[in-house]
Amino acid sequence: MAAAIRLSLWHRGLTADNPSVGSIVVRADGRAPTIVGRGVTAYGGRPHAELQALAEAGDAARGATVYATLEPCSHIGKAPPCADAIVAAGVSRVVIATLDPDQRVAGRGVAILRKAGIEVVVGCRQEEARRAMAGFLSLRGRGRPYLTLKLAVSHDGMIGRQGAGQVAITGALARRAVQMMRIEHEAIMVGVGTAVADDPLLTARLDGLEGRTPIRVVIDPFARMLSAARMFDDMAAPAPIVLVSEKAAQNRIDGLAARGAQIRAVASDYRGRFDPREILRVLGVSGIKSVLLEGGAETARRFLDAGLVDRIALFRGSGIVGEAGVAAPIGPEAVPHGFSQVDAAVYGEDRLTVFERNS
Ligand SMILES: NC(=O)c1ccc[n+]([C@@H]2O[C@H](COP(=O)([O-])OP(=O)(O)OC[C@H]3O[C@@H](n4cnc5c(N)ncnc54)[C@H](OP(=O)(O)O)[C@@H]3O)[C@@H](O)[C@H]2O)c1
Repeated sequence: MAAAIRLSLWHRGLTADNPSVGSIVVRADGRAPTIVGRGVTAYGGRPHAELQALAEAGDAARGATVYATLEPCSHIGKAPPCADAIVAAGVSRVVIATLDPDQRVAGRGVAILRKAGIEVVVGCRQEEARRAMAGFLSLRGRGRPYLTLKLAVSHDGMIGRQGAGQVAITGALARRAVQMMRIEHEAIMVGVGTAVADDPLLTARLDGLEGRTPIRVVIDPFARMLSAARMFDDMAAPAPIVLVSEKAAQNRIDGLAARGAQIRAVASDYRGRFDPREILRVLGVSGIKSVLLEGGAETARRFLDAGLVDRIALFRGSGIVGEAGVAAPIGPEAVPHGFSQVDAAVYGEDRLTVFERNS
Protein backbone atom coordinates (compact mmCIF):
# COMPACT_ATOMS: atom_id res chain seq x y z
CA MET A 1 0.00 0.00 0.00
CA ALA A 2 2.91 2.34 0.67
CA ALA A 3 3.98 1.84 -2.96
CA ALA A 4 0.43 2.50 -4.19
CA ILE A 5 0.25 5.71 -2.13
CA ARG A 6 3.58 6.90 -3.52
CA LEU A 7 2.30 6.21 -7.02
CA SER A 8 -0.87 8.20 -6.30
CA LEU A 9 1.23 11.30 -5.60
CA TRP A 10 2.47 11.45 -9.19
CA HIS A 11 -0.74 12.97 -10.53
CA ARG A 12 -1.85 14.97 -7.53
CA GLY A 13 -3.54 18.15 -8.75
CA LEU A 14 -3.83 16.86 -12.34
CA THR A 15 -6.92 14.65 -12.20
CA ALA A 16 -9.70 17.27 -12.40
CA ASP A 17 -12.68 16.30 -10.21
CA ASN A 18 -11.25 12.88 -9.40
CA PRO A 19 -8.72 12.10 -6.70
CA SER A 20 -5.33 10.85 -7.82
CA VAL A 21 -5.56 7.17 -6.82
CA GLY A 22 -2.73 4.65 -6.91
CA SER A 23 -3.22 0.95 -7.50
CA ILE A 24 -0.89 -2.02 -7.84
CA VAL A 25 -1.46 -5.70 -8.61
CA VAL A 26 0.74 -8.11 -6.67
CA ARG A 27 1.36 -11.84 -7.10
CA ALA A 28 3.03 -14.02 -4.50
CA ASP A 29 3.04 -17.53 -6.03
CA GLY A 30 5.06 -18.87 -3.13
CA ARG A 31 7.93 -16.53 -3.94
CA ALA A 32 8.61 -12.98 -2.81
CA PRO A 33 5.61 -10.79 -3.77
CA THR A 34 6.04 -9.26 -7.22
CA ILE A 35 4.28 -6.19 -8.64
CA VAL A 36 2.75 -7.18 -11.98
CA GLY A 37 0.60 -4.11 -12.64
CA ARG A 38 0.61 -0.46 -11.64
CA GLY A 39 -1.78 2.39 -12.28
CA VAL A 40 -2.35 5.98 -11.24
CA THR A 41 -5.46 7.99 -12.17
CA ALA A 42 -4.70 9.48 -15.58
CA TYR A 43 -4.49 13.22 -16.29
CA GLY A 44 -8.02 14.62 -16.29
CA GLY A 45 -9.32 11.76 -14.10
CA ARG A 46 -9.72 8.84 -16.58
CA PRO A 47 -8.92 6.01 -16.88
CA HIS A 48 -8.96 5.08 -13.22
CA ALA A 49 -5.89 3.60 -11.53
CA GLU A 50 -7.29 0.07 -11.04
CA LEU A 51 -8.19 -0.33 -14.73
CA GLN A 52 -4.67 0.60 -15.78
CA ALA A 53 -3.08 -1.68 -13.18
CA LEU A 54 -5.28 -4.59 -14.30
CA ALA A 55 -4.50 -3.89 -17.97
CA GLU A 56 -0.77 -3.99 -17.28
CA ALA A 57 -1.11 -7.20 -15.26
CA GLY A 58 -3.18 -8.92 -17.96
CA ASP A 59 -3.64 -12.64 -17.17
CA ALA A 60 -1.34 -12.28 -14.17
CA ALA A 61 -4.20 -10.51 -12.35
CA ARG A 62 -6.02 -13.88 -11.95
CA GLY A 63 -5.59 -14.96 -8.33
CA ALA A 64 -3.55 -11.84 -7.50
CA THR A 65 -4.02 -9.12 -4.86
CA VAL A 66 -5.07 -5.60 -5.91
CA TYR A 67 -4.04 -2.71 -3.68
CA ALA A 68 -6.00 0.53 -4.14
CA THR A 69 -5.67 3.77 -2.19
CA LEU A 70 -9.43 4.44 -2.56
CA GLU A 71 -12.39 2.07 -2.67
CA PRO A 72 -12.89 0.92 -6.29
CA CYS A 73 -15.83 2.72 -7.85
CA SER A 74 -19.20 1.04 -8.17
CA HIS A 75 -21.20 3.55 -10.20
CA ILE A 76 -21.42 3.69 -13.94
CA GLY A 77 -20.06 7.05 -14.99
CA LYS A 78 -18.03 7.61 -18.13
CA ALA A 79 -16.37 4.22 -17.69
CA PRO A 80 -17.54 0.81 -16.40
CA PRO A 81 -17.11 0.46 -12.63
CA CYS A 82 -13.68 -0.61 -11.42
CA ALA A 83 -15.22 -3.06 -8.93
CA ASP A 84 -16.75 -5.02 -11.84
CA ALA A 85 -13.46 -4.98 -13.74
CA ILE A 86 -11.67 -6.41 -10.69
CA VAL A 87 -14.24 -9.21 -10.44
CA ALA A 88 -13.95 -9.94 -14.18
CA ALA A 89 -10.15 -10.15 -13.92
CA GLY A 90 -10.41 -13.00 -11.40
CA VAL A 91 -8.57 -11.18 -8.61
CA SER A 92 -8.70 -13.09 -5.31
CA ARG A 93 -7.96 -10.36 -2.76
CA VAL A 94 -8.37 -6.57 -2.63
CA VAL A 95 -6.73 -4.29 -0.06
CA ILE A 96 -8.19 -0.77 0.21
CA ALA A 97 -6.77 2.15 2.19
CA THR A 98 -9.96 4.17 2.57
CA LEU A 99 -13.64 4.02 1.61
CA ASP A 100 -15.28 6.43 -0.83
CA PRO A 101 -16.14 9.63 1.11
CA ASP A 102 -19.44 9.94 -0.73
CA GLN A 103 -21.88 8.38 1.74
CA ARG A 104 -24.20 7.35 -1.09
CA VAL A 105 -21.58 5.08 -2.62
CA ALA A 106 -19.34 4.25 0.38
CA GLY A 107 -19.12 0.49 0.81
CA ARG A 108 -20.81 -0.33 -2.50
CA GLY A 109 -17.56 -1.13 -4.26
CA VAL A 110 -16.60 -3.38 -1.36
CA ALA A 111 -20.02 -5.06 -1.48
CA ILE A 112 -19.64 -5.91 -5.20
CA LEU A 113 -16.22 -7.45 -4.54
CA ARG A 114 -17.34 -9.49 -1.51
CA LYS A 115 -20.44 -10.73 -3.30
CA ALA A 116 -18.14 -12.14 -5.96
CA GLY A 117 -16.23 -14.09 -3.28
CA ILE A 118 -13.19 -11.77 -3.21
CA GLU A 119 -11.48 -11.27 0.15
CA VAL A 120 -11.50 -7.52 0.96
CA VAL A 121 -9.41 -5.71 3.58
CA VAL A 122 -10.23 -2.04 4.34
CA GLY A 123 -8.18 0.52 6.28
CA CYS A 124 -4.59 -0.39 5.35
CA ARG A 125 -2.43 2.76 5.82
CA GLN A 126 -5.65 4.75 5.90
CA GLU A 127 -4.25 7.91 7.47
CA GLU A 128 -1.41 8.16 4.95
CA ALA A 129 -3.76 7.60 2.02
CA ARG A 130 -6.24 10.17 3.33
CA ARG A 131 -3.41 12.69 3.62
CA ALA A 132 -2.39 12.00 0.01
CA MET A 133 -5.92 12.77 -1.21
CA ALA A 134 -6.82 15.36 1.42
CA GLY A 135 -8.03 17.87 -1.19
CA PHE A 136 -10.48 15.45 -2.77
CA LEU A 137 -11.77 14.24 0.61
CA SER A 138 -12.19 17.83 1.81
CA LEU A 139 -14.13 19.03 -1.22
CA ARG A 140 -16.34 15.93 -1.30
CA GLY A 141 -16.85 15.68 2.44
CA ARG A 142 -16.94 19.35 3.53
CA GLY A 143 -17.71 21.21 0.33
CA ARG A 144 -14.52 23.27 0.55
CA PRO A 145 -10.88 22.86 -0.46
CA TYR A 146 -8.20 21.66 1.93
CA LEU A 147 -6.23 24.69 3.15
CA THR A 148 -2.51 24.71 3.87
CA LEU A 149 -1.02 27.88 5.35
CA LYS A 150 2.60 28.44 4.42
CA LEU A 151 4.56 31.10 6.28
CA ALA A 152 8.23 31.97 6.56
CA VAL A 153 9.02 33.44 9.97
CA SER A 154 12.27 35.13 10.96
CA HIS A 155 14.16 34.41 14.15
CA ASP A 156 12.46 37.43 15.73
CA GLY A 157 8.95 36.30 14.70
CA MET A 158 8.43 38.49 11.61
CA ILE A 159 7.23 37.62 8.11
CA GLY A 160 8.31 40.82 6.38
CA ARG A 161 9.09 44.50 6.81
CA GLN A 162 6.64 47.37 6.26
CA GLY A 163 7.28 49.12 2.97
CA ALA A 164 10.24 46.90 2.07
CA GLY A 165 8.58 44.63 -0.52
CA GLN A 166 9.80 41.03 -0.53
CA VAL A 167 12.20 40.36 2.33
CA ALA A 168 14.19 37.12 2.15
CA ILE A 169 13.32 35.29 5.37
CA THR A 170 14.68 31.92 4.24
CA GLY A 171 17.44 30.73 1.93
CA ALA A 172 17.42 29.25 -1.57
CA LEU A 173 16.85 25.64 -0.47
CA ALA A 174 13.73 26.47 1.53
CA ARG A 175 12.44 28.57 -1.34
CA ARG A 176 12.80 25.57 -3.66
CA ALA A 177 10.79 23.51 -1.18
CA VAL A 178 8.06 26.15 -1.39
CA GLN A 179 8.09 25.84 -5.19
CA MET A 180 7.51 22.11 -4.77
CA MET A 181 4.65 22.79 -2.36
CA ARG A 182 3.07 25.07 -4.95
CA ILE A 183 2.79 22.40 -7.60
CA GLU A 184 1.24 20.03 -5.09
CA HIS A 185 -1.72 22.39 -4.69
CA GLU A 186 -4.39 23.42 -7.14
CA ALA A 187 -4.41 27.06 -6.09
CA ILE A 188 -2.07 29.53 -4.38
CA MET A 189 -3.75 32.38 -2.52
CA VAL A 190 -2.56 35.69 -1.03
CA GLY A 191 -4.16 38.81 0.40
CA VAL A 192 -3.97 42.01 -1.64
CA GLY A 193 -1.55 43.47 0.94
CA THR A 194 1.04 40.95 -0.20
CA ALA A 195 0.11 41.30 -3.88
CA VAL A 196 0.74 45.07 -3.68
CA ALA A 197 3.74 45.11 -1.30
CA ASP A 198 5.68 42.20 -2.81
CA ASP A 199 4.40 42.07 -6.39
CA PRO A 200 5.05 38.31 -6.31
CA LEU A 201 4.97 36.01 -9.36
CA LEU A 202 3.70 32.99 -7.38
CA THR A 203 4.73 30.71 -10.22
CA ALA A 204 6.32 27.24 -10.24
CA ARG A 205 9.85 27.81 -11.45
CA LEU A 206 11.49 24.41 -10.95
CA ASP A 207 13.30 23.01 -13.98
CA GLY A 208 10.95 20.85 -15.99
CA LEU A 209 7.93 21.86 -13.93
CA GLU A 210 7.47 25.38 -15.24
CA GLY A 211 4.11 24.44 -16.76
CA ARG A 212 2.73 23.40 -13.38
CA THR A 213 1.89 26.80 -11.89
CA PRO A 214 -1.45 26.39 -10.10
CA ILE A 215 -4.23 28.97 -10.27
CA ARG A 216 -3.19 32.08 -8.35
CA VAL A 217 -5.88 33.76 -6.26
CA VAL A 218 -5.78 37.25 -4.76
CA ILE A 219 -8.27 38.34 -2.07
CA ASP A 220 -8.92 41.91 -3.09
CA PRO A 221 -12.31 43.28 -1.95
CA PHE A 222 -11.68 46.81 -3.28
CA ALA A 223 -9.76 45.82 -6.44
CA ARG A 224 -6.66 47.56 -5.09
CA MET A 225 -4.33 45.29 -6.98
CA LEU A 226 -2.26 47.01 -9.64
CA SER A 227 -2.99 46.07 -13.21
CA ALA A 228 0.76 46.35 -13.81
CA ALA A 229 1.34 43.46 -11.35
CA ARG A 230 3.90 40.93 -12.55
CA MET A 231 1.41 38.13 -11.85
CA PHE A 232 -0.36 39.04 -15.08
CA ASP A 233 2.81 38.86 -17.19
CA ASP A 234 3.16 35.08 -17.40
CA MET A 235 0.91 34.21 -20.31
CA ALA A 236 1.64 30.48 -19.94
CA ALA A 237 0.26 30.28 -16.38
CA PRO A 238 -3.50 30.09 -15.72
CA ALA A 239 -5.06 33.55 -15.44
CA PRO A 240 -5.10 34.72 -11.80
CA ILE A 241 -8.45 34.85 -10.00
CA VAL A 242 -9.15 38.15 -8.21
CA LEU A 243 -11.87 37.97 -5.56
CA VAL A 244 -13.68 41.31 -5.32
CA SER A 245 -16.63 42.64 -3.34
CA GLU A 246 -19.53 44.76 -4.56
CA LYS A 247 -17.63 47.74 -3.10
CA ALA A 248 -14.89 47.56 -5.74
CA ALA A 249 -14.92 50.36 -8.32
CA GLN A 250 -15.92 49.14 -11.76
CA ASN A 251 -13.06 50.97 -13.54
CA ARG A 252 -10.54 49.15 -11.34
CA ILE A 253 -12.21 45.80 -12.02
CA ASP A 254 -12.16 46.56 -15.75
CA GLY A 255 -8.45 47.40 -15.57
CA LEU A 256 -7.66 44.04 -13.95
CA ALA A 257 -9.93 42.13 -16.34
CA ALA A 258 -8.19 43.80 -19.27
CA ARG A 259 -4.93 42.30 -17.99
CA GLY A 260 -6.51 38.86 -18.05
CA ALA A 261 -7.67 38.52 -14.43
CA GLN A 262 -10.62 36.23 -13.80
CA ILE A 263 -12.83 38.41 -11.63
CA ARG A 264 -15.05 36.61 -9.10
CA ALA A 265 -17.55 38.54 -6.98
CA VAL A 266 -17.76 37.35 -3.37
CA ALA A 267 -20.47 38.43 -0.91
CA SER A 268 -19.05 40.79 1.73
CA ASP A 269 -20.21 42.64 4.84
CA TYR A 270 -20.67 46.42 5.06
CA ARG A 271 -16.88 46.91 5.47
CA GLY A 272 -16.13 44.89 2.36
CA ARG A 273 -14.95 41.91 4.41
CA PHE A 274 -15.45 38.36 3.20
CA ASP A 275 -16.28 35.49 5.48
CA PRO A 276 -13.24 33.23 4.85
CA ARG A 277 -15.70 30.33 4.58
CA GLU A 278 -17.32 32.05 1.63
CA ILE A 279 -13.94 32.46 -0.06
CA LEU A 280 -13.30 28.72 0.18
CA ARG A 281 -16.83 27.91 -0.93
CA VAL A 282 -16.40 30.04 -4.07
CA LEU A 283 -13.10 28.30 -4.86
CA GLY A 284 -14.68 24.90 -4.21
CA VAL A 285 -17.44 25.67 -6.70
CA SER A 286 -14.68 26.09 -9.31
CA GLY A 287 -13.53 22.56 -8.48
CA ILE A 288 -10.41 23.66 -6.58
CA LYS A 289 -9.62 20.91 -4.07
CA SER A 290 -6.52 22.26 -2.35
CA VAL A 291 -5.23 25.75 -1.62
CA LEU A 292 -1.81 26.92 -0.46
CA LEU A 293 -2.34 30.17 1.45
CA GLU A 294 0.89 32.15 1.27
CA GLY A 295 -0.02 35.06 3.53
CA GLY A 296 0.30 37.77 4.45
CA ALA A 297 -0.21 38.21 8.16
CA GLU A 298 -3.71 39.67 8.10
CA THR A 299 -5.08 37.10 5.67
CA ALA A 300 -3.49 34.21 7.56
CA ARG A 301 -4.95 35.50 10.83
CA ARG A 302 -8.45 35.67 9.39
CA PHE A 303 -8.33 32.07 8.15
CA LEU A 304 -6.79 30.87 11.42
CA ASP A 305 -9.43 32.69 13.47
CA ALA A 306 -12.18 31.13 11.35
CA GLY A 307 -10.75 27.67 12.11
CA LEU A 308 -10.28 26.95 8.41
CA VAL A 309 -6.56 26.18 8.30
CA ASP A 310 -6.05 22.41 8.02
CA ARG A 311 -2.26 22.33 7.79
CA ILE A 312 0.55 24.77 8.55
CA ALA A 313 3.93 24.67 6.83
CA LEU A 314 6.07 26.92 9.01
CA PHE A 315 9.53 27.81 7.76
CA ARG A 316 11.77 29.34 10.39
CA GLY A 317 14.65 31.42 9.11
CA SER A 318 17.70 32.31 11.17
CA GLY A 319 17.83 36.02 10.22
CA ILE A 320 16.46 39.04 12.09
CA VAL A 321 14.03 41.47 10.47
CA GLY A 322 14.14 43.98 13.31
CA GLU A 323 12.47 47.38 13.10
CA ALA A 324 9.22 47.85 11.15
CA GLY A 325 8.75 44.09 11.02
CA VAL A 326 5.37 42.58 10.11
CA ALA A 327 4.64 40.22 12.99
CA ALA A 328 3.74 36.62 12.14
CA PRO A 329 0.29 35.49 13.23
CA ILE A 330 1.95 32.42 14.73
CA GLY A 331 4.79 32.47 17.25
CA PRO A 332 8.19 31.42 15.90
CA GLU A 333 8.55 28.59 18.42
CA ALA A 334 5.11 27.69 19.79
CA VAL A 335 2.96 24.92 18.35
CA PRO A 336 -0.17 26.68 17.13
CA HIS A 337 -3.18 26.00 19.36
CA GLY A 338 -5.23 23.02 18.18
CA PHE A 339 -2.50 21.67 15.89
CA SER A 340 0.01 18.85 16.22
CA GLN A 341 3.34 18.48 14.53
CA VAL A 342 3.32 15.84 11.77
CA ASP A 343 6.58 16.49 9.94
CA ALA A 344 9.85 18.42 10.07
CA ALA A 345 12.77 19.07 7.74
CA VAL A 346 15.93 21.14 7.59
CA TYR A 347 16.86 23.22 4.53
CA GLY A 348 20.32 24.64 5.06
CA GLU A 349 19.97 27.24 7.83
CA ASP A 350 16.19 27.01 7.83
CA ARG A 351 13.77 24.63 9.52
CA LEU A 352 10.38 23.53 8.27
CA THR A 353 7.80 22.26 10.73
CA VAL A 354 4.48 20.96 9.48
CA PHE A 355 1.41 20.92 11.70
CA GLU A 356 -2.04 19.48 11.14
CA ARG A 357 -5.26 20.44 12.84
CA ASN A 358 -6.28 17.92 15.48
CA SER A 359 -9.39 16.24 14.18
N1 LIG B 1 7.18 35.53 5.08
C1 LIG B 1 6.10 35.11 4.48
O1 LIG B 1 5.83 33.91 4.44
C2 LIG B 1 5.20 36.12 3.85
C3 LIG B 1 4.22 35.67 2.94
C4 LIG B 1 3.37 36.62 2.39
C5 LIG B 1 3.49 37.96 2.75
N2 LIG B 1 4.46 38.35 3.60
C6 LIG B 1 4.57 39.76 3.99
O2 LIG B 1 3.35 40.12 4.61
C7 LIG B 1 3.14 41.53 4.41
C8 LIG B 1 1.72 41.72 3.92
O3 LIG B 1 0.84 41.24 4.91
P1 LIG B 1 -0.45 42.04 5.30
O4 LIG B 1 -0.96 41.44 6.55
O5 LIG B 1 -0.12 43.49 5.28
O6 LIG B 1 -1.43 41.81 4.05
P2 LIG B 1 -2.16 40.55 3.42
O7 LIG B 1 -2.55 39.60 4.47
O8 LIG B 1 -1.38 40.05 2.28
O9 LIG B 1 -3.45 41.27 2.81
C9 LIG B 1 -4.42 41.78 3.70
C10 LIG B 1 -5.54 42.37 2.90
O10 LIG B 1 -6.15 41.35 2.09
C11 LIG B 1 -7.54 41.57 2.06
N3 LIG B 1 -8.19 40.47 2.78
C12 LIG B 1 -7.63 39.39 3.37
N4 LIG B 1 -8.58 38.61 3.92
C13 LIG B 1 -9.77 39.19 3.64
C14 LIG B 1 -11.11 38.90 3.94
N5 LIG B 1 -11.45 37.80 4.64
N6 LIG B 1 -12.07 39.74 3.51
C15 LIG B 1 -11.75 40.85 2.82
N7 LIG B 1 -10.50 41.19 2.52
C16 LIG B 1 -9.52 40.38 2.92
C17 LIG B 1 -7.80 42.88 2.78
O11 LIG B 1 -7.70 43.87 1.79
P3 LIG B 1 -8.24 45.41 1.98
O12 LIG B 1 -7.22 46.08 2.83
O13 LIG B 1 -8.29 45.96 0.59
O14 LIG B 1 -9.57 45.32 2.66
C18 LIG B 1 -6.64 42.90 3.76
O15 LIG B 1 -6.32 44.16 4.27
C19 LIG B 1 4.18 41.99 3.44
O16 LIG B 1 5.17 42.65 4.15
C20 LIG B 1 4.72 40.71 2.86
O17 LIG B 1 6.07 40.84 2.48
C21 LIG B 1 5.31 37.45 4.15
